[in-house]
Amino acid sequence: MGAITILPTFLSANKLLVFVYLIVLSLKEGYATAEAESHTIHVASLLPSSVCTPPATAKGLDKKSSLQVIHKHGPCSQLHEEKANIPTHAQILHLDEVRVKSIHSKLAKNLGSVNVMKKDAAANLPAKDGSVVGSGNYIVTMGLGTPKKDLTLIFDTGSDITWTQCQPCLRSCYKQQDPIFSPSSSSTYSNVSCSSAACTSLNSATGNSPGCSSSTCVYGIQYGDSSFSIGFFAKEKLTLTSNTVFDNFLFGCGQNNQGLFGRTAGLLGLGRNKLSFPSQTAIKFKKIFSYCLPSSPSSTGFLKFGNDGHSKSVKFTTLSTIPGGESFYGITIIAMSVGGKKLSISPSVLAAGGAIIDSGTVITRLPPTTYSTLRSAFRKQMNQYPMAKPLSILDTCYDFNKYSTVSIPKISLFFEKGVEVPIDASGILYATSISQVCLAFAGNSNDLDVLILGNTQQKTLEVVYDGTRQMLGFRTGGCT
Ligand SMILES: *[C@@H]1O[C@H](CO)[C@@H](O)[C@H](O)[C@H]1NC(C)=O
Repeated sequence: MGAITILPTFLSANKLLVFVYLIVLSLKEGYATAEAESHTIHVASLLPSSVCTPPATAKGLDKKSSLQVIHKHGPCSQLHEEKANIPTHAQILHLDEVRVKSIHSKLAKNLGSVNVMKKDAAANLPAKDGSVVGSGNYIVTMGLGTPKKDLTLIFDTGSDITWTQCQPCLRSCYKQQDPIFSPSSSSTYSNVSCSSAACTSLNSATGNSPGCSSSTCVYGIQYGDSSFSIGFFAKEKLTLTSNTVFDNFLFGCGQNNQGLFGRTAGLLGLGRNKLSFPSQTAIKFKKIFSYCLPSSPSSTGFLKFGNDGHSKSVKFTTLSTIPGGESFYGITIIAMSVGGKKLSISPSVLAAGGAIIDSGTVITRLPPTTYSTLRSAFRKQMNQYPMAKPLSILDTCYDFNKYSTVSIPKISLFFEKGVEVPIDASGILYATSISQVCLAFAGNSNDLDVLILGNTQQKTLEVVYDGTRQMLGFRTGGCT
């Protein structure tokens, strides 16, 4: 009876808001010289193939505690979304902007920064905003319950709690591919009580105070794009791989779920809060995990946990914490190069708003002055190619119709500790068609907004998160 009377009010989503506002990019000209250092790309390879071709040798996958990483919308995905539900490139980039604005607003609000707070959107935020789902997401499959049921989840370094849709879906479940998890069919499920420390921890993990229904702890998390999940906070046996099993893993058993989760069963939270997956499994994995995002949706990558011998070719820089954004993985980028030549950008401009690495943001967002310097250098070295119309937030696009191969300048990021990370060719361009291929970077609207290293630029790199030593590592050619 308690559940029936309390849930409908608690589970309502009316306070969830979408906050989108216009970006104004400052278009300042930078300078650069032409350089020979470039990638030669077959134009046909810019578009993903319609068949799934996983790499022949996936280094990450011969290790235990490894999961296959798949792009949610690509041919390697088993989610079988209806074509009409697969977002267009313009929609993907729009949602990406919503995610970025939400991250900026969250950090600005938590920082209480006068400069950033004066933006309209900050005033319109719900009292406690959570994190963001966005659109360009990567998925993994893991097992829950006894007997174990496989669930396909979006993995997200920008949020903390793991949740899945749960029977009986008291308010609402969206359509998912896997059968919806049923606690009553599992012998290892238990509810978390309202008075437990785990329940209290939801405050920091979700940004919302937990609720209580018949002494069962109720979680609620909303994402910047108005997606949300609300339900019972629970413990369950979680099976990563056949020999890696965790008892009493804390997760959200979602009774009211809506939003842009595709046909996934929910979300795997890889953030830094103590309820995140890396924190809950720290005794075994020491908060170490790594992933490689495939070069295209028609290939696969991996997500692996623990430190069973990272290759010597992983180069490590330091992880930091962003004030007010303790769940995010903070990084320090000190320089960038285009075509082998360092851009004339001051490290203080790069550092002004702080920087994070995020698995769920698609396009890297740079401070506007840095972006315009990058863009000028890139355009200068691409000036033999005809330009095409802009695509959403991407303003530097080319028409490669008349070419079978093109030559594009290499781009590198430089981190603290002298670490240079060359961006793979697949991470420099974003193609909708051969006649609209765009530079896959964008500018923030304010130099004080946090820089976000997005997932396009992370493609084919093995990215190693070491939350114990507070280090972040990169290895090129990471998926194979
Ligand atoms: C968990 O709590 C909810 C709400 O109180 C209740 O309806 C459900 O039966 C509980 N499940 C178990 C296994 O105790």
